[in-house]
Amino acid sequence: MTTDRSSWQVKDEAVLDELVTLLDLSPVEHALLGDLADAAAEVAPAMVEAFYERLFKHEATAEYLRGSAMERLHAMVAEWFVELFSGQYNVDYARRRIIIGQIHARIGLPVRYPLAMLDVVLSFSEAVLSQSPRPGQAATAFRKVLALDVAVFNQAYEDHQLRHLAELVGGERLARRLLMQGA
Ligand code: HEM
Repeated sequence: MTTDRSSWQVKDEAVLDELVTLLDLSPVEHALLGDLADAAAEVAPAMVEAFYERLFKHEATAEYLRGSAMERLHAMVAEWFVELFSGQYNVDYARRRIIIGQIHARIGLPVRYPLAMLDVVLSFSEAVLSQSPRPGQAATAFRKVLALDVAVFNQAYEDHQLRHLAELVGGERLARRLLMQGA
């Protein structure tokens, strides 16, 4: 007999609040990253170029982009990147990021693709972090911010799938138990 978990009761806005608390960025870490906003804005166009070059090179990802307004997407991804260095990592920040995750879940994009693209994001972020007067501390802070993004992106997908499974089986608790081990 499996027990219910307290994390199952953490939902919606409370999840965002929980993740911000869990990652525990200090005021110094907020400031260290916020000071890099201009450097991030400079790097953003090159990061976006590399980002879409990689996605267009791979047929399975390119097919999602055909017919999209690429100019708008370039601007949105650049904004997403610069916001990693906004120095403001609160529930409003996490909410903006989870909505982006939801948009991807709704277009039927497997989550492995956005997660794999963190390779490009990381390599350009390193160029930004190296411009900090305290690059080691800035990198430690940045790992937390990126982990927050990974967590909310995945949460968006999990919410999406759980909601549909719960509708199908008649309740979220049963859906969770089925996902555990078919209990
Ligand atoms: C780190 C990974 C990614 C980030 C940060 C990201 C970011 C974004 C952002 C900010 C938007 C605009 C959302 C809005 O309209 O408010 C967007 C839309 C979109 N992204 Fe991504 N993206 C990522 C990965 C991918 C991948 C791997 C694909 C696959 C091709 C993709 C395809 C799309 C498409 C097709 C849209 C337009 C969706 C629509 O408006 O219907 N994205 N993305």
